[in-house]
Amino acid sequence: MSSAHYQALEPQTSDEDNEDIERPHHHIHQNHPHPMVRKGGVARRRCILPVVGGALFFIAFCYLTLSGDTRIALGLGGGSEDSEEGSHHGLGKQGVLESRPADWLLRYTRQEPAREEFRGSITGQETEFRLVKQEPKLKITRRRHRFNPKIHSINFRPLNESLHVCSENYEDRRQFMQDKPRSEYGQLPIIYFVTPTYPRREQIPELTRLAHTLLHVPRLHWLVADDQEKCNDFMDTLLNRFGIPFTHMVSPMPSKFRNEKPAPRGVANRRAALQWLRQHNLTNGILYFGDDDNTYDLRLFSEIRKTQRVSMFPVGLIADYGISGPVVRKGKVVAFLDSWVAGRRWPVDMAGFAVNLEYMAQYPYVNMPYKPGYEEDLFLRSIGLQMSLIEPRGNNCTEILVWHTQTKSKKLGLVRLESKYLDDRSNLGALLLNLKLMGVASTTENEGRNALISKNGKEKPHSAILS
Ligand code: UGA
Ligand code: MN
Repeated sequence: MSSAHYQALEPQTSDEDNEDIERPHHHIHQNHPHPMVRKGGVARRRCILPVVGGALFFIAFCYLTLSGDTRIALGLGGGSEDSEEGSHHGLGKQGVLESRPADWLLRYTRQEPAREEFRGSITGQETEFRLVKQEPKLKITRRRHRFNPKIHSINFRPLNESLHVCSENYEDRRQFMQDKPRSEYGQLPIIYFVTPTYPRREQIPELTRLAHTLLHVPRLHWLVADDQEKCNDFMDTLLNRFGIPFTHMVSPMPSKFRNEKPAPRGVANRRAALQWLRQHNLTNGILYFGDDDNTYDLRLFSEIRKTQRVSMFPVGLIADYGISGPVVRKGKVVAFLDSWVAGRRWPVDMAGFAVNLEYMAQYPYVNMPYKPGYEEDLFLRSIGLQMSLIEPRGNNCTEILVWHTQTKSKKLGLVRLESKYLDDRSNLGALLLNLKLMGVASTTENEGRNALISKNGKEKPHSAILS
């Protein structure tokens, strides 16, 4: 993808950006000749003018003849860049995002929590209940999509992950949420909460914690997309137990990305969830990408449910500043505060926005390419986001309703215990089997130190307790 293509994704010029922010207009000093003219003189001007004119004509021609989505497809689309064979590094060979800045790995540097005391006050404990009163719906004007098979087949790589649903449940078995019976929430649009997850020691605890947040949220369908080949019965049982409507699917990261540093984390699974949404032709509801390790304030759900097109809000604990989010003036998003820009037009975290499915349905080329660090930006570009469409949430982006918490990761536990003791004479057989199924610890007969079993403060031989 060339830089020209990439820039074609930016229908909003810097002039338009200026319009977003109300500020005094700086007039161009018409009396002074352009520096290039001053330097190069008439001969250079003669040379440059036809070239510039030609280029402008070409750009205008492309802009007028290609539809918005075709341009997006061109920019985002794979072709050599986005295809299976192509490179997934950076965004283009010569584009603004040509090479990933050296600081890219610092995007999510772990930070010590800020020590400053909280001085504000938490106000407006808005409940889901109040949301029954919806804001009047904005009229969404349908865009025409001209399909050019040649351009699309060559340049655009569709969502083509293997989508394998392990189990799903559409029945909401919860009786009460936030002190109200389920029936009182019946009119609310459904939130499709997409959680990419992957097998590691912390997976089940993370999902358990998240489930206990989601248990309080009415009208929610949880799309749990696991980054692995095989379905996992343990996970199905776990998800079923909560009574929250869910779909459990598996969609492994393509192996060629697996050993990359950085790898595109959670992309294959989010792509699978996008496919699921598309396959179900869902045009009613709200999409939110909620990673398994973040912390969600219940007010977040009330806020995103109001999304008419795309809403945005700050995410706490992001990188150097401990925050990433929109800059809002007079109720409008005008810019972004984030310590890693790297050419991203939408420098936001995955947890920092929500999308209305009716809006998204207008963009058949919705995509999230395997480009580490740029997933949010490119996804938002693929749905034709414009600054003026963004709805700031969280009291005009002054509150933090979601936190980018990270769990300390450790390798699998190893418990050395003779297999003859893993029967029903004690709890240990069943306990260790559960830990194995959860991917937390495994049992071994001959690796490492013997498992410590003690009584009255003294280590005991296994046989003394278990035989
Ligand atoms: C940050 C962002 O918050 C993520 O939304 C973004 O995907 C990620 O960076 C990225 O660009 O790599 P971070 O905390 O650094 O998140 O990443 P993780 O929490 O490790 O991973 C993000 C999500 O992908 C999690 O839900 C995780 O379970 C999942 N994941 C991670 C996978 O599905 N497969 C993996 O191999 C790793
Ligand atoms: Mn995370």
